[in-house]
Amino acid sequence: MSLMRKKNVHGMLETSKKSGLRKELGAFDLTMLGIGAIIGTGIFVLTGTGALVAGPGLMLSFVIGAFACGFAALCYAEFASMLPVSGSVYTYAYATLGELIAWIIGWDLMLEYLLASSAVSVGWSGYFQNLLAGFGVTLPDALTAAYGARPGMHTLFNLPAFMIALAITALLAFGIRESKRFNNIVVAVKIAVVLLFIALGVWHIKPANWHPLLPYGMGGVFHGAAIVFFSFLGFDAVTCAAEEVKNPGRDIPRGVIGSLAICSVLYVVVSAIMTGIVPFAQYAGVDHPVSKALEVAGLDWVAGIVNLGAILGMTTVILVMTYGQTRITFAMSRDGLLPKVFSEVHPKYQTPYRATWIIGIVIALIGGLVPLGTLAELVNIGTLAAFSLIAIAVIVLRKQQPDLPRKFLCPGVPWIPALAILFCVFLMAQLGSLTWTCFLIWLCIGLLVYFGYARSRALLANAGARA
Ligand code: ALA
Repeated sequence: MSLMRKKNVHGMLETSKKSGLRKELGAFDLTMLGIGAIIGTGIFVLTGTGALVAGPGLMLSFVIGAFACGFAALCYAEFASMLPVSGSVYTYAYATLGELIAWIIGWDLMLEYLLASSAVSVGWSGYFQNLLAGFGVTLPDALTAAYGARPGMHTLFNLPAFMIALAITALLAFGIRESKRFNNIVVAVKIAVVLLFIALGVWHIKPANWHPLLPYGMGGVFHGAAIVFFSFLGFDAVTCAAEEVKNPGRDIPRGVIGSLAICSVLYVVVSAIMTGIVPFAQYAGVDHPVSKALEVAGLDWVAGIVNLGAILGMTTVILVMTYGQTRITFAMSRDGLLPKVFSEVHPKYQTPYRATWIIGIVIALIGGLVPLGTLAELVNIGTLAAFSLIAIAVIVLRKQQPDLPRKFLCPGVPWIPALAILFCVFLMAQLGSLTWTCFLIWLCIGLLVYFGYARSRALLANAGARA
């Protein structure tokens, strides 16, 4: 039974009020936070790979990704409006499905936030080195990428990826207010760059490039959806901010759904334009597909601006994803499942200061040392698993505690959550066997840590659980 012990919802709400975190964010900030986490490597780098497997049908891949995330976002919104506490879906699961499942979700989310931060810092490094090269500056080969990342080149350590992750960690440790200001400014620039691409690129579409629309059939479209799913990640990070929001019950659902809706529309339009300007096969081996489309259209000066926007855009993705990771470990540590250091709040900066540095250094080291080419798939599978579990949790809690006040109701329960599960499991099935193997190994390690460490130290273990 102890594996099923659950947290009391009312107790969680009380604890969250005493967290010591600064209440600083409103609906606008949350939408910007969401967009900050969403638009990044997915659209600026992975669209090239997606176009190769889906052809012009990539726009449909984005529509499928948007539906999968949209259904999950509605589930997130209901939970966030009911339980505005740090820890996002991990915390929701603790209240509904019990401790073991909550632990597994928290463990899964590390794949999402921690590894996505590292992966995006590597993507950032690629664009940054491109920019430096434009000014005639090149780094020694050994410091350009992780060992073995570039065949034929003697690379050892990705210094720019390491440095950007550390710089962002410093900002996050310093304060949520500063992080918010930085994020809001950069997100505005990022959206402007995407709109610029749309406004100028649309005139260079050659409809012939859209024929045939599905060169690899619907199979290609589904495979593309599993790849570009990465582009949507981040809307869920909004819920990690719950304890720093002034009116969380109202504003978090707005932030989650608003940011996802805006980005989904932008993605479908951008992918349609990209495949309309350039025959999709020409994206082979291109790691800057958006600016490549502009170059082909003869808009080189815009391509330069888009490159700069991509660098800025990826910066905020690292920022928000790292932030999300620190808040989830914060919640897990507060529950006793992780060491206490992860939930200590700095008296002056009002942030989990030491935890932020520990996590930031791990992210920076992974970004510096590991070639992360296939990492996006691993991030995707962990996230899809977490999304499926949250959809189950919504159905369970509606049955178990129908009277709990919910400021936002997911429409069509149980059908919408069921669709979320269906879409997520379907996309998981599109991912390769290596990804599945790594995912299962990660889960096994998680279970070892749970049974070897966390379970006996959980506060509920000592306080008497409400099972
Ligand atoms: N959605 C984020 C990105 O595409 C993770 O970079």
